[in-house]
Amino acid sequence: MKTLVVYDSNFGNTKKIAEAIAETLKARAISVKEITIDSIKGIELLIVGSPINAWRPTTKIKDFLDAITPGKLSGIKAAAFDTRVKIFISGNAAKKISKALGEKGAAIISDSIGFYVKDNEGPLLDGEITKAQQWAADILQKTK
Ligand SMILES: Cc1cc2nc3c(=O)[nH]c(=O)nc-3n(C[C@H](O)[C@H](O)[C@H](O)COP(=O)(O)O)c2cc1C
Repeated sequence: MKTLVVYDSNFGNTKKIAEAIAETLKARAISVKEITIDSIKGIELLIVGSPINAWRPTTKIKDFLDAITPGKLSGIKAAAFDTRVKIFISGNAAKKISKALGEKGAAIISDSIGFYVKDNEGPLLDGEITKAQQWAADILQKTK
């Protein structure tokens, strides 16, 4: 299945999660800073991840999602994740990304998920890479 993992990352933590997911899915992880709308041509599974910044996905992820014309993702499976700190109200960027992907026509094949960092700059908490690999492995099963 032709898969693309798109991520944004300020301090490298979301990148690490994106790469772990991509490896499990035998896919490419590409920074949103390098993506063009043509990058999603021909893909069958799209995973999008962002750090939570003020309860939302980053502006670059939002711009990427906004640039996708409605219906463009029909026939494409998709899922979303975010990275966040453990605070009382983290917000949920992944859920917002999932919703936007669905609105563009994608079939959401997994619940969105959050991965935890210790502080704003990281590091990822222990076990989060394994959690990412398991989330991706579950997605892989659902595509079969
Ligand atoms: C400006 C800013 C706003 C943030 N807002 C939130 C937030 O609302 N909720 C949350 O859980 N984490 C928040 N964080 C923590 C980020 O989620 C954390 O920096 C991120 O997961 C690290 O991933 P990265 O290394 O890929 O950027 C914020 C961080 C920054 C720098």
